[in-house]
Amino acid sequence: MKISMFLQKILTVRIRQFLPSPLSIPSSVRLQSIQKGSLVGEQSSVGSITPANFLKQINTQKSINTRDTNKETKDQLIIDAGQKHFGATMCKSCGMIYTASNPEDELQHVQHHHRFLEGIKYPGWKKERVVAEFWDGKIVLVLPHDPSYAIKKVEDVQELVDSELGFQQVVPRCPDKTKTFLFISDEKKVVGCLIAEPIKQAFRVLSEPTGAESPSSKECHRAWQCSNVPVPAVCGISRIWVFRLKRRKRIARRLVDTLRNRFMFGCFLSIDEIAFSDPTPDGKLFATKYCNTPNFLVYNFNS
Ligand code: COA
Repeated sequence: MKISMFLQKILTVRIRQFLPSPLSIPSSVRLQSIQKGSLVGEQSSVGSITPANFLKQINTQKSINTRDTNKETKDQLIIDAGQKHFGATMCKSCGMIYTASNPEDELQHVQHHHRFLEGIKYPGWKKERVVAEFWDGKIVLVLPHDPSYAIKKVEDVQELVDSELGFQQVVPRCPDKTKTFLFISDEKKVVGCLIAEPIKQAFRVLSEPTGAESPSSKECHRAWQCSNVPVPAVCGISRIWVFRLKRRKRIARRLVDTLRNRFMFGCFLSIDEIAFSDPTPDGKLFATKYCNTPNFLVYNFNS
């Protein structure tokens, strides 16, 4: 106990469900969830992927609407006439949760879907910087002073990534030194993105408590704690993202390998020189596997 109080201070425990952002959940889905008064049922109808901020929004809206609750529960917004698709549905391509058969939601979905797929098209550039090639694609490096078409593509991808991660627009610490690695598939789509920046120090994630009182393994992946003792580090992974349909194909692994090879001229960074920015549950699982330890390095988190 003494040792843990002395050496370890919880800097952050961050729970971030990793799913579509609030932006990608239309209002009528939220409203319907409230009116039915069965959040659990609604979540399960769209899978176990409903984000925490989705719940938060529902709760907020719930309190705002307290006065009208009784009235609203009697309203029926959509008629179930045996439609093929009814209620909360998640699009497998763009990840948006919307109410099928609700015209307003359908329209929002079409717009989001289109933007999502269009946003990751990659037509190819004459002067692209290919830093790795594979049987199923290649990795292109974009640097801050590259032509505007390359920077624009990076901004488009980052917008998508941030909306999926639920990030507000985060300005890089040293925009002039940021390196962006794009994984381009054979179908000419950006299916992976890694944004890296120089850092000077990072913190080790602490191992999860074991034993009877430890949280369930699912919760473990959502929360993490790290030491407050900084260690020197060289490269921070500000974002790492892989297109939903291309996950578990080692794209993230290949992006990090390439980063380690290309971040500093003439040297291959060790695992102890790279750190992950505020990892999501997926990011934590990936980093644990990639670094071969649950005590990988993190930086740039909210304490
Ligand atoms: N659950 C369990 N293990 C996982 C995992 C997951 N969701 N994602 C990766 N891993 C582990 C696996 O052991 C995997 O090897 P295996 O498939 O042979 O078992 C290994 O990491 C390598 O995974 P890889 O295929 O290279 O990862 P990926 O291309 O699927 O990308 C993420 C991983 C995290 C980038 C991807 O899930 C993603 O984009 N998530 C959304 C954005 C995000 O949360 N980014 C993290 C920010 S810190």
